[in-house]
Amino acid sequence: MSEATEKSIPPEKLVRVTFQPEGRTVEFEFGTMPYERHGKPMSFLDVAENNGVFLDHACGGVCACSTCHVLIKAGEKGLTPADDDELDRLDMAADQQLNSRLGCQAVITRPGEYVVEIPKWNRNYVAEGKPLTLAEAK
Ligand code: FES
Repeated sequence: MSEATEKSIPPEKLVRVTFQPEGRTVEFEFGTMPYERHGKPMSFLDVAENNGVFLDHACGGVCACSTCHVLIKAGEKGLTPADDDELDRLDMAADQQLNSRLGCQAVITRPGEYVVEIPKWNRNYVAEGKPLTLAEAK
């Protein structure tokens, strides 16, 4: 079920982001979300922080840890491309896939539908409720 706000968002400005496997969907008007100082503005980490969705970010969103690793399931064309720093960091992420991105670096550039999946190893970390070192995550 969507957590859309009661106010109506013009369809041409609607951003809808679903975080899997929780199935949590948040909606907002493109260009209106305040910046929460975690990751790049309008990154998935920024969206998560703005909406109470847990997405790990051990380095604070500065492309230095890979704990914000997400898999892009929909909306890839609306994102900024990964730069060399992100690609280098992703090489260190556990279970890297072709659709892997760093949640703090992948920025939503236009309205539309986006679906990201938080990888299993990261979900386990959340479920166990304790820090997991990067060495353990490999
Ligand atoms: S939070 Fe550390 S790389 Fe994204």
